[in-house]
Amino acid sequence: MKIEKNKSLKKFNTFGIDVRACKYVELYDEEDLKKILSADEFKNDSKLILGGGSNILFTKDYEGLVIKNSIPGIKIIFEDDKSALVKAGAGVVWNDLVLFAIEKNLGGIENLISIPGTVGAAPVQNIGAYGEELMNKFHSLKGIYFETGKDAIFEREECRFDYRNSIFKKELKGQFVITYVILQLIKNPRPVFNYGTIKNELDKQNKENYSIKDVSEIIAGIRKEKLPDPAVTGNAGSFFKNPEIDKSLFLELKKEYPEIPGFTTPCDKIKIPAGWLIEKCGWKGKRIGNAGVHDKQALVLVTYGNTNGSDILSLACEIKISVIKTFGIELTEEVNIY
Ligand code: FAD
Ligand code: EPU
Repeated sequence: MKIEKNKSLKKFNTFGIDVRACKYVELYDEEDLKKILSADEFKNDSKLILGGGSNILFTKDYEGLVIKNSIPGIKIIFEDDKSALVKAGAGVVWNDLVLFAIEKNLGGIENLISIPGTVGAAPVQNIGAYGEELMNKFHSLKGIYFETGKDAIFEREECRFDYRNSIFKKELKGQFVITYVILQLIKNPRPVFNYGTIKNELDKQNKENYSIKDVSEIIAGIRKEKLPDPAVTGNAGSFFKNPEIDKSLFLELKKEYPEIPGFTTPCDKIKIPAGWLIEKCGWKGKRIGNAGVHDKQALVLVTYGNTNGSDILSLACEIKISVIKTFGIELTEEVNIY
């Protein structure tokens, strides 16, 4: 275990913000994690678990201990005729797990292809895309409480999954580190392609049946078109969540903006694409200094060159003000701000 001091985090967050961690350690197993959590040396330090840094905005140096979670390994631990339980270490790159599942023809997470980050962070905000959410194929996870160093297992119901949310992003934020995740994936899977333009793209292939691999490739292609590659342009995906508003407000807005998109949620609210609201306020493609709004997806804030986190935060703040002034809708951040 190598503790590094005053470590630059520039390479460890997809916005590419150059802040420093007072202390930094990369860990590959639970034993070392427990040693660190119980060591007197770190008892009084605040602790931040870092995966791929793809859903984080750093606005200042981190004064405590940053623990990069790199626990490896993907394994099928149980299977029957219908499904397989796949266990993966929190440090596994999420997309590697998706590719593993596709290769074994295990269905359920193929629509979550190309989402950056690690397996350990996936339950934190219940990652989702193209009609699928992690919670739908989640079985359980294992982790350790910072304070006591004790292990705990969380079953699906205990995680309080919601749209871009879970107990790990709310009540247990900064208190619990996820070490392993188990998913229940489906044998002989049927691909899900009723979201957006996936079906149109598949139709162009003119096949009788589509595999989960076909669908995943279409989705990977759509994502590549729309979303900026963090290796080229700093970003953390959607900066805000899509707001869920009351039907009455939606109907009011529809009078003034007949084209406003909206989708009814299971709780009978209307989910509005925040990208539409932001674009309508004129922000799409705009740049203020080295912070900007992506020109193909207004929900994604981007960095150009050396930006600090506060520039992104100021831009986000201006966007929020104009959306609330124009539509009376308050946007909330999806990204974790430190
Ligand atoms: P990090 O950014 O490192 O951490 C995020 C939060 O989780 C932090 O608060 C951190 O402390 C905590 N955390 C990380 N690991 C652990 C752990 N092991 N235990 C406890 N807490 C932990 N998200 C979607 O849902 N859908 C998308 O389609 C999507 N597309 C994206 C596209 C792009 C181009 C980018 C850059 C991001 C996108 N995201 C998307 C957001 C992001 O990829 C996900 O939120 C991802 O799960 C973050 O993983 P990470 O390992 O990078 O987490
Ligand atoms: N739209 C616009 N202008 C824009 C962007 C979007 O008008 O600049 C409108 C269009 O009507 C479009 C609709 O928004 O049809 C939906 O856009 P898109 O399919 O790109 O999805 P999104 O709602 O903007 C969400 C997730 C993404 C996820 C995609 C695909 C959130 C906050 N974001 O974006 O997740 O990949 O759906 O399922 O829910 C992320 O969380 O980081 C992320 C990228």
